Amino acid sequence: MAKVLVTHQLPGQQILQLPDHCDMNIWMGPGLLPAAGLRDELAGCEGLLCLLTDKIDASLMEANPQLRFIASMSVGVDHIDVKAATARGIVVGNTPGVLVETTADASFALLLAAARRLVEADRFVRGGHWRVENAWSPEFFTGKDVAGATLGIVGLGEVGQAVARRAAGFGMKVLAWNRTPRSVPGVEAVELDELLAASDFVSINLALGEETRNLIDERRLGLMKRDAVLVNTSRGGIVDEQALADALSHDRLAAAGLDVFEREPVPDDHPLLSLPNVVATPHIGSATEATRIKMADMAALNMLAALKHEPMPHCVNPEVYAS
Ligand code: DGY
Repeated sequence: MAKVLVTHQLPGQQILQLPDHCDMNIWMGPGLLPAAGLRDELAGCEGLLCLLTDKIDASLMEANPQLRFIASMSVGVDHIDVKAATARGIVVGNTPGVLVETTADASFALLLAAARRLVEADRFVRGGHWRVENAWSPEFFTGKDVAGATLGIVGLGEVGQAVARRAAGFGMKVLAWNRTPRSVPGVEAVELDELLAASDFVSINLALGEETRNLIDERRLGLMKRDAVLVNTSRGGIVDEQALADALSHDRLAAAGLDVFEREPVPDDHPLLSLPNVVATPHIGSATEATRIKMADMAALNMLAALKHEPMPHCVNPEVYAS
């Protein structure tokens, strides 16, 4: 029987099917499987069911030449060296589609929270600062209107389109840029620089890859309106974080809502965390119970298919099957 490593206990029912088809070893913690542990536990395994926190690079594959299939419980696969996997004939599966609406909700939640300074206001109340002498005033916690504003969506894939649908409900004008232009009703396709210059809110909704790393760099941040809000639920590496912190702390940008960071967990002393106009969440874009079950089931079904020598239903490098 093939040996399979699962790097975390998973929700859902589909994982329960795997022991009939493989010798399954689940990392039971405590916490996440550390990199050195992953290397050891993977020894002799043909299959790996992993999370986005597991770094699967070429050296790990080299150290485990028997590895044949990887199913990640994530849509993003930037934690896996897919090129190296393909070169070795390793099939890689992911979990597209099921987290679209949940992630779009998170983008919009961050947009609203940053626009209306909700986290700052919450801290103010809980910190005991709301007193009779400052109970209300015309400028008290003033933010930015969302209804009727212009939203620029960077990346018009499934999540970007779901964000656009939410924006329509707020009467927003929606602009979008996509690497391969897409026509979506109610959304005006524009060049990226034009989008940044014209938008009151910018939502990043595209995958991290070689072409999108540092896409929103110092120059592009400089194109944005001074009172604009940036939201990112995709991947931290897409935005230059130091340039973003500089812009936010020098009033060249109003606020940011960030669910993802270049390094996760984000270090406590990260410059963005000291800014009151940043709403920061710990990569929870897809974190609803229902969606996490769907993701886990999808990853388990990818693994199951591989164990039955069938094509994974959701595979990011199907060319492996042709070779
Ligand atoms: C993914 O699946 O890539 C998401 O980032 C999880 O929230």
